[in-house]
Order: sequence, then structure tokens, then C-alpha cells
Amino acid sequence: MDAFVIHGGQRLRGRVRIQGSKNAALPLMTVAILTDDEVVLHDVPRLTDVDNLASLLNTLGCRVRQGEGNGPDHGQTLHLRVEDPTADTAEYDIVRRMRATFNVLGPMLARRGKAVVSMPGGCNIGDRPVDLHLRGLRALGARIELDGGYIHATVPESGRLRGARVFLGGSMGPTVTGTANVMSAATLAEGTTILESAACEPEIVDLADLLNRMGARIGGAGTPRLTIEGVESLHGAEHAVIADRIEAGTYIMAAAVTNGDVVIDNCPVDALTAALDRLVEIGIEITPVESPLDRSGAVATGPASGMGQSVRVASRRRLNPITVTTQPHPGFPTDLQAQIMVLLAVADGNSIITEKIFPDRFLHVAELLRMGASLVRNGSSVLISGVRELIGAPVMASDLRASAGLVLAGLGARGVTTINRVYHLDRGYEKMEVNLQNLGARIERVKRPAV
Ligand code: EPZ
Repeated sequence: MDAFVIHGGQRLRGRVRIQGSKNAALPLMTVAILTDDEVVLHDVPRLTDVDNLASLLNTLGCRVRQGEGNGPDHGQTLHLRVEDPTADTAEYDIVRRMRATFNVLGPMLARRGKAVVSMPGGCNIGDRPVDLHLRGLRALGARIELDGGYIHATVPESGRLRGARVFLGGSMGPTVTGTANVMSAATLAEGTTILESAACEPEIVDLADLLNRMGARIGGAGTPRLTIEGVESLHGAEHAVIADRIEAGTYIMAAAVTNGDVVIDNCPVDALTAALDRLVEIGIEITPVESPLDRSGAVATGPASGMGQSVRVASRRRLNPITVTTQPHPGFPTDLQAQIMVLLAVADGNSIITEKIFPDRFLHVAELLRMGASLVRNGSSVLISGVRELIGAPVMASDLRASAGLVLAGLGARGVTTINRVYHLDRGYEKMEVNLQNLGARIERVKRPAV
């Protein structure tokens, strides 16, 4: 198992380019099941989660192959095409490793009439129920039973799902992948579906964009009410994955925690308004760069889109304490909670973070305490008393975003931090140590025997 060894205290300087969004790419890949034509996806990040989903799709008869990308600074291009529509079982061994594979359920049910998908396991950030996914698909007429840890889903006798009005909100608000699952299934249903309390995340907008290019008729993407007029069939399409707003937020905070001066290219500013609001409040200067680079890496001629701007990030020596509450989009994203906790751990005063999406998403707290942070957890909140600096220490990565937080802590700390089990990071951050080395960080990946 690889580890990162970080010698802290280097101020980051230079430019880093944001890759395609993991949480957009994964559902985008699953909807290739909805058509017999080829779907081509550009700017797909090179991540283990993408590889795992590609493996699952291949076992489900949807062939995934790599094509010519758009250049070294870009993600990979994937060509997806169903060659054998008879497979119907998504095995536990792959689904347990990555929850997003559960998103093959909706497309398989809608296109093949039947799906057997393993229930996803829990994970380090808490229970990951799927009751809302199942509620939505049942509302479309699916018959769903749980047997031996697998969901057995079939369409009604008519052979087709039927449009319905569905309330998809849960006690913790909307579900992102649940919205993706039900929206995808509804594209081939008979009649119109209205999804109330749908997720508004940019990744849902990107998915609706691809589905509409494939011939679907989806309205309201990005709002809590989605309208999907069912169609008989969908055709192939080509699509570029939006930039990863969580990766962008992570690098912005890496620059800030090292008191650095970094330009972030291909930054989806429009998808980060709540996060940027908090980061500016903390005292981080985030300003558009006059000569932004476009998606190909050349100096942009026209105005950069709000989903691909170049921004310069600089910060004052001491950061201001603030309060942060994670909420569904457009609120502050839970996937940046661990990272902002690191900034606040060395801010000049007391801060409070409240986690409203995954109330147990605090595995990073114990590790930050080992690095000298002053944190007190109280249920779904953490009170943070800023300290002068963190001290490097051996720490353990646990989930993807907690691990990213520990990297930021190591970058800003005095001394050496060793982060074990960085395979968690490889799930969602493409060549993270290389990007940080290019920005001047003293970070290296070392091989560790399995612990
Ligand atoms: C997506 O997970 C993301 N993953 C997560 O990012 C992200 O943290 C999360 O949305 C919230 O923004 C992908 O897109 C692949 P939810 P998802 O369903 O869809 C409850 C990362 O690090 N809920 O929106 O699984 C649930 O327990 C990952 O990239 C139900 O109660 O999250 C949670 O409290 C981590 N019943 C809340 O809703 C359900 O059927 C939001 O969960 C589904 C969810």
C-alpha cells in the first residue's frame, strides 16, 4: 500500500489544471447502457473509481475502451458501446468497492427490463442507504425485491417503466446518485416523470446534458424539479465531462494552507459559489487571471466560461475563523468539509463546522488531533480553536476527502507527515503528488508493505 511522505512548510507556487469531475464521469459512463450506439466521453479523469466502473460495465456487456485523448493535460477519452445486452447482474465484489456502481441499476432496468445489483456496502463516512433510489424506481412501476444482499428489479408486465410524479427527498435532503439513477431510468419510461426534490448538483446538470444529447427530453436540470418526457429509444452522443469542483476546491485550499500563490486553470467557478464565499471570508484572495487558458491549454481568445476559468489564489499569513455548514448544492459541499477544517485549524480564532449531509463524516478529526489541532466534536459539529501551526506526524487515510484533508495538513505543517493507505486518494485525485510537486511541495509516494 503506497504512502505519501510530505515535508511541510513549502509555499506552493505555479499553475495546476483541474481535471474532469469524478462525480460527473461515473454516472455519465453508466448511461451508455441506455443505447446500442457508441457514447464518447472526453476529459474523463484517470482514477481507480473510473477503472472499477469500466470493469463492471464490461461485465455487463458494455465495452469500454480508451481512445485518443485531447492532449497530455487532459483526461482520457472513453468509447462505450453495448455489445451484449443480456448480462443483468452487477456483482457484490465490485459494487462493494464503490457506491457509484449502484448507478447501473436505473439504466439496466430501463433498457433491459431487468437488473440484479448488489446493495452497496456502508463506508467510512457513514450509512449509505439507497431507499430513495428504490422509492423512485418503484414509483416508475418497477418491481423491486431484496434477496441475499442483491436488489432484484424488473419492469412491469408491459415491459416498460411508466412516467410518474415522484418526491425524491429524504430526511437529509436530496440524493445526488439517487436523482441520477431515477432520472436516467425515466428517460425511456412511457409518459412524463416529474422528480420533486431532485438534487441540483452540477454533476446532475452534466448528466442531463448528455442524456438530452442522446435524445432524452429532460427539463429543469439544476433545479429541485426535473421533468422527463419518456422516449422510445436513445442514440449515441459525444460529451466532455465538466471540471471537478471538489478537486478545484482542494487545490485552492492547498495553496491557501501553505500561504502560497497559485493559478488554478479550468476552475469551475460557477459550481463553487458557496465554497468561494467561505474561502474569501477566511481571507483567501481568489482573482480571475487575465490570460486564462482554454480547455486545450492554449491562452483563451474569448471569455473563459464560468465552468473553466483561470483564477489566482493567494492568502494572508493568518486566516480568519468562520462558521461553515455543509448543505446540498448550491450550499457548501460536504466533500470539501475535511479540507476547510484544516484551514480553520490554523486560523486566528474559533470556528465551527456543522456537517448536515453525513453527520459522522469526521474520521479526519482524530488524525488532525495527532497533528496538534485543537478540535472538539459535538455530534454533527466540530468546534475548532485555531493553533499557530500543525506538527507533522504519521497519519492514516480513511476516506477519499478526509485523506485530501490530511495532505493539506501535511503541506502546511512543520516537519514530516506520512500518510498511509493513499489508495483512498487515488480513487478521486489524478496524480495528486505530481501536481503538488510541480507546485513546489516536498511530497513523494513511497511503497509500504500492506498494514
Ligand atoms: C454523492 O454521493 C457523491 N458521490 C458524494 O461524493 C457526495 O458526498 C454526496 O453525493 C453528497 O453530495 C458521487 O456522486 C459518486 P447522496 P451520494 O445520496 O449520491 C442520504 C466523494 O467523496 N440518502 O446525495 O451517495 C445519505 O445518507 C463522494 O466524491 C438517503 O437517506 O450521496 C446522505 O445523508 C463521497 N437515502 C444524503 O442522503 C438514499 O437513498 C445525501 O446522500 C440516498 C441518500
